[in-house]
Amino acid sequence: MQEDLFGSSSSVRSDDAPENELLKFTTLAELYEGTKDCQKCRLGATRKNYVFGNGNPKAKIVVVGEAPGADEDEQGIPFIGRSGQLMDKILSSINLTREEVFACNVLKSRPPQNRNPEPDEVAACLPYLHRQIEIIKPKIILALGKTAANTLLGSDFAMSAMRGKVMKWRNIDMIVTYHPAALLRNPNWKRFTWEDVQLLRKLYDEKYA
Ligand code: URA
Repeated sequence: MQEDLFGSSSSVRSDDAPENELLKFTTLAELYEGTKDCQKCRLGATRKNYVFGNGNPKAKIVVVGEAPGADEDEQGIPFIGRSGQLMDKILSSINLTREEVFACNVLKSRPPQNRNPEPDEVAACLPYLHRQIEIIKPKIILALGKTAANTLLGSDFAMSAMRGKVMKWRNIDMIVTYHPAALLRNPNWKRFTWEDVQLLRKLYDEKYA
């Protein structure tokens, strides 16, 4: 029925429509300004701050987490709570600083009580993450946790199927490892993350330094 009504122009109203709307934003600053008041999902009503992401706008490495927590919501900056402090240590173990990377999340607004993101919240926010990555054009994505990795890949893989190797998001290399919050709960997994970021460092040095 829709096809009859809209004819060939119906292709404009495809799932790509939200992504296409963002093409007019060609810098991170423009993308931030154009999305900071977003109310596309219920989290717009409960967040204190929109947590867009921060760091080097020309970063070769983009770090993607799941969603802001209470500290991040309070300050509008990603990864500044306990998970963020551990993330900084993980980066520094491979001689990277926060200033060198760009850090952001799948969701830009905090889910209440840090519950898992709902599928419609992810669907509403994901075009913003895609556009961030398109603008920054990093060489490597470091996906922290299953949610970040599977959301980018559009998959439902176990962590064991994704970590320890170089994956691809579109044509960008992607390393997947545990989310720092998972490492705080299970410190015995830290050695896997240390291995994963060593792989990232090797890839960076050999291909992109
Ligand atoms: N956890 C995340 O995934 N992102 C943050 O910014 C903070 C905690």
